[in-house]
Amino acid sequence: MSQMEIIPGLADVPVAKSAVSLIDGKNARLAYRGISVETLARDSSFEETSWLLLKGDLPTQRQLADFHHELRQRRKIKYKLKEVIKNFPEQGHPMDALQASVAALGMFYPVRDVTNSAANWDATLRLIASMPTLVAAFHRLRNGDEPVDPHPDLDHAGNFYWMLFEREPSPSIRKVLDACLILHAEHTMNASTFSARVTGSTLSTPYNTIAAAVGTLAGPLHGGANEEVLAMLDEIGTVENVKPWLDAKRAATPSFKVMGMGHRVYKVKDPRATVLQELAEHVFSEMSRPKKYEVAIELEKYCAGIYGTKGVWPNVDFFSGVVYQSLGIPTDLFTPIFAVARVAGWLSHWHEQLENNRIFRPEQVYTGKENASYVPLEKRP
Ligand SMILES: CC(C)(COP(=O)(O)OP(=O)(O)OC[C@H]1O[C@@H](n2cnc3c(N)ncnc32)[C@H](O)[C@@H]1OP(=O)(O)O)[C@@H](O)C(=O)NCCC(=O)NCCS
Repeated sequence: MSQMEIIPGLADVPVAKSAVSLIDGKNARLAYRGISVETLARDSSFEETSWLLLKGDLPTQRQLADFHHELRQRRKIKYKLKEVIKNFPEQGHPMDALQASVAALGMFYPVRDVTNSAANWDATLRLIASMPTLVAAFHRLRNGDEPVDPHPDLDHAGNFYWMLFEREPSPSIRKVLDACLILHAEHTMNASTFSARVTGSTLSTPYNTIAAAVGTLAGPLHGGANEEVLAMLDEIGTVENVKPWLDAKRAATPSFKVMGMGHRVYKVKDPRATVLQELAEHVFSEMSRPKKYEVAIELEKYCAGIYGTKGVWPNVDFFSGVVYQSLGIPTDLFTPIFAVARVAGWLSHWHEQLENNRIFRPEQVYTGKENASYVPLEKRP
């Protein structure tokens, strides 16, 4: 690479060493600290997975029990923070509300010194524990409902569902939500994780670091594809319309992109999509299979013959929207749920960044004017 060559989007440029997660795009493998996500989604919990991501190893029984306890202690948010959230515009996007409330949360728990490991751990626990409360509080308040206090007997995923809907989830709904959180908890050096590392590298607070990452995740090129999948499945409408719909789209636009298909790294079916599909089948065995799911299955089949050789297969977003919708979760909460999960990955990278920190300060190639003169205002036309 010549010194001033620009790599758009820093594609394939390593920006840090990391031991948190690994993607093997050819072999459909995603592993957190060496353990495959399939195993974690099946056998672990979001709390245990968060510990694994943060600490590098699975917790002992005692460590996990303490971790549960510490998280539970920090789920409730201050009355004054609820008042702040109450005053957000109801029409505001929940991701904007989440970013603002994470920043506000930090004002209640100031972190003056990010070299203090006890304070950093406290903030880590508080951020993971509070994110579902912040998302649920805004959602309820915008609908004119009082926020629901965290449930002392429910785990992270079950409690999130409880705070959103004021009812306990069935065991299979709890399991699918928990697995969705596990599947979205970490994904190597994506844009929001990089954003967290950049903000963290300035020794800014963990709350500012996570607020920056939430803002980055909010963009449609990062967190929002599953919403577009739902719109696409609505547009297709029926299983019978899959072929005519795609044929017409391709005829009109040869480079037409099917939403929820393809990935920069995975050239086979995204392992998270496979796990989600299995879980979806499990949930749908308790309720009627949504029509959108049938349409998605048919679309996947038809696309395999067209795009399979190009390495374009379903990614995690292909099924996640259908699953969330079947749980009664509103579309604009899909990306906030992603954030509720990814905060574990962001914080793991933040800790890793601080262990061997150097402020990010890349270079630019200047393309502007040189030696321009300042013309006094009265002499300008
Ligand atoms: C994710 C994405 C941006 C990756 O883009 P990318 O890395 O540039 O894609 P690739 O280089 O692998 O594309 C290879 C070929 O497959 C095609 N392709 C990629 N994704 C496709 C899709 N979703 N539908 C149809 N064709 C697709 C490309 O047009 C390209 O075709 P060509 O070789 O004839 O030019 C892209 O697949 C996409 O836009 N997908 C839809 C949006 C989405 O689901 N995003 C969420 C990602 S988690």
